[in-house]
Amino acid sequence: MVEAAVAAGGAGSVLFVKEPGLANRLQRLAVEESRLGIPLMFGFDVIHGLRTVFPVPVALAASWDPETIERSQAVAAREARAAGIQWTFAPMVDVTRDARWGRIIEGAGEDPYLGSAVAAAQVRGFQGDLGPDRVLAGPKHLAGYGASQGGRDYDEAEISDSELRNVYLPPFRAAVDAGAGTVMSAYMDLNGVPASGNRWLLTEVLRDELGFDGFVVSDANAVKSLETQHFAASPTDAAVRAVSAGLDMEMCMFDPAFRTLPQAVADGLVDEEVIDRAVRRVLAAKFRLGLFEQPYVDEGAADALLGAPAHRAAAREAAERSVVLLKNDGALPLEASALGSIAVIGQLADSKRDTLGPWVFDHVTDDAVTVLEGVRSRVGDDVRVVHAPGAGIPGRMFPSMFDRMDPTVEHTPDDHDDEAEIARAVALAEASDLALVVVGERQNQVGENASRATLDLPGRQLEQLQRIAATGTPVVLVVMSGRPLDLRWADEELPAIVQAWYPGTSGGDAVAAVLFGDVSPAGRLPFTWPRHVGHVPMHYAHLRTFDPEQQGRRYWEEPSTPLYPFGHGLGYATFAYSGLRLDRERIRVGEQVQVRVDVTNESGRDADEVVQLYVHQRHGRASRPVRELKGFRRIRLAAGETRTVGFDLGPDELRYWSASDRDWVQDATTVDVWVGGDSTADLATAFTVTEGADR
Ligand code: NOJ
Repeated sequence: MVEAAVAAGGAGSVLFVKEPGLANRLQRLAVEESRLGIPLMFGFDVIHGLRTVFPVPVALAASWDPETIERSQAVAAREARAAGIQWTFAPMVDVTRDARWGRIIEGAGEDPYLGSAVAAAQVRGFQGDLGPDRVLAGPKHLAGYGASQGGRDYDEAEISDSELRNVYLPPFRAAVDAGAGTVMSAYMDLNGVPASGNRWLLTEVLRDELGFDGFVVSDANAVKSLETQHFAASPTDAAVRAVSAGLDMEMCMFDPAFRTLPQAVADGLVDEEVIDRAVRRVLAAKFRLGLFEQPYVDEGAADALLGAPAHRAAAREAAERSVVLLKNDGALPLEASALGSIAVIGQLADSKRDTLGPWVFDHVTDDAVTVLEGVRSRVGDDVRVVHAPGAGIPGRMFPSMFDRMDPTVEHTPDDHDDEAEIARAVALAEASDLALVVVGERQNQVGENASRATLDLPGRQLEQLQRIAATGTPVVLVVMSGRPLDLRWADEELPAIVQAWYPGTSGGDAVAAVLFGDVSPAGRLPFTWPRHVGHVPMHYAHLRTFDPEQQGRRYWEEPSTPLYPFGHGLGYATFAYSGLRLDRERIRVGEQVQVRVDVTNESGRDADEVVQLYVHQRHGRASRPVRELKGFRRIRLAAGETRTVGFDLGPDELRYWSASDRDWVQDATTVDVWVGGDSTADLATAFTVTEGADR
C-alpha cells in the first residue's frame, strides 16, 4: 500500500522506517517511478538515541550541560542517518509544571530559561550543519501541551497571553533561533482552539513573531482530530483549515485529510497558492538535507555505526552527568572494600528494558546494563552481590501500541506472589551489609498517555522499603523514574537517595560509578520536587502573594515548600560562593550589568558544580516571579581551586511580555540577584535600572 502511494507520487514523507534497505527501496520508487521524482524524507521519533540509548530527555536536562546534550543528540543523529532516517520528531520543548503529566519525562522540566538552553542544544546536536550525519529537528508540540488540565494527556490548555510568551514559547523561540527545520503542532486545544488548526499560533506567533521559516507538521492524526475535537465539520474542512492556518504537512497513519485538498482547491475552498506555499516549505527542507543530490543511504554503514563503542561511551558519560544526588548524609560514596555483601533489591534493579526508558524503537534490549550488572562489574569478586526483585511493579494499565510492538517490555507476571517476594527481599537485605534498593516506575508508566493521579511508588514498593529499613541494614535508595515521586518517607528516614532516571544503554555502569564515587554527581533537578501530589502544579517561579510572611501559602497537611527545590542536587565535594559583585550598580533600561562570583571547591577531590543565577524585580508594570533563572554554568573545579564565574544581565534577561502593554517591556526597578547552587541560593546583591535615555 505504501509502495503504491509512493510510486504514484502520493506520499512526500514516510514515518517509522528504520531499515536502510527498506528506505532505499521506497526511495527508489519515489525517485525513479513517481512522476516528479521528488525524493522522500524519512521521519522518526529519535528522542534519546536510536540503537545507543541515552538517558531520557528530562535526565539530559538534569545535566544542566548544553554541551553534553548537544553531543548526545549528535550521536543519535549519526545513528539515525545511518539507518536511513533524515528527520527526528524531537526535541520536545514543552514546559511543564505538572508531574502527573507523563510527558514530563520528554521535556526539560519547568523552566523557560533552562528549557531554552536545552532546546537549542538539542537542535544543534541533531542538525549541526545538516551534513550527511545529521537530521532535521522538529521541536514540538506547539504550544502549551505541558499545561494540559489535570495533567491528563491531550486535555485542553488555558494559558494567558503573558504565560504563553514568558513561559511556554521561549524554548520554541530558542529552537527556531538555533535553526530548527520543522515544528510539530500539538493535539490539544489552546484557549479553545485546537493547536493544529490555530492560525494565530501557527502563523502569527510562529512565523511572524518567532521568525520560523521551516515547515510545520501536525502531530500524528492531529488534522483529522480537528473533526473529532468538534472544531472542523468534515475531513475537508479540517484539511482546509489546517493548511490555511499554516500547517504544511499532515502526519497520519491512514487516509489523510490532506487527500481532499485537490478537490478543495477545485471547489474554491482554499487557494492553490496556500497549497504551493506548504509544498515549497517541505521541498526546501529536502533541499537543505541534500536529498536531491543523495537520496539513498549506504546500506553497509549502519551495522558498524549503530551502538558503536564510542557511542556507548558517550551515553555512559551523559548518564553519569545526569544523575542527581537528592540526599546524602555521608552514606555515599560507597567504599567497596568496607562491604562484604550488598543486596540489590527491586524489579527495576535488573530490568534491561526499564533501564532504557520509554520512547525507544530500535534498541537492542540486551545491550542495556542494569544497576545490578553495573554494581557487580564495579565491585568484581571482592563483594558478594545478591539480588531479589521483591515487590511487583504493576506497569501501565493500558499497554500502548508501542508496548505491544516490543516483546521485551517488562511487567509483573500475574502469578507474582508479592508477599513471598517481598519477604525474600527483606531477608536478603537483612543478611547483607548494605541494601541498595531500586524503586520507581516502569518505563511505560510515564511518557505519552501515561498520566498518574498520584505520585506514590507503584505497588508495595514503599512498604517493602520500610520493612528493609526496619531490619537495621543500611539502605541506599536509587530511584528510576521520569517524574518526581512521593519520597517523603525516604527523605526523612534514609541516609542517601540517588535519582537515576532511566539512564539508557550504559545506565547501570553510570549509576555504579556515582554510587562508588568514581564520579562526583552534579546533575541538578530541572523541576521542583513536590512533597505530595496535592502540591501539583508546583514551580519555583511563582508570584508573591499579599501576605508579607507568605504564611497563607501552606496547606493544612503539608508545608508549601517542595521536598527538593528546583536546581537541587548534591555531590561529593563542597563548594563555597563568595565575592558576589557587579561591575556597576545602576544601569539604564537596555544596558547590561556584569555579575561575578568566586566559586571555590573546598574539598579534596575534583568535581563539577552548576553555578546558578536567579533574578527578581521588586516592582514594575506586572508582578514578576519571586525568582527566575537567568544564567547557569556547569564548571569543573580541581580540589581547592577557586574560579570567578561571570554572567551578563541585560534586556534579554530582564524584559518580559506585559499583558497590559501587549508587548515586551523592561521596567525601571530594582533587581535582586542571587547566585548559588540551587534556586534557594542566598548570596545576594541588587542593582537599579533607570529609564532609558530615550524615554
Ligand atoms: C504522537 C506524539 O504526540 C508525538 O510526540 C510523536 O512524535 C508522534 N506521535 C509520532 O510518534
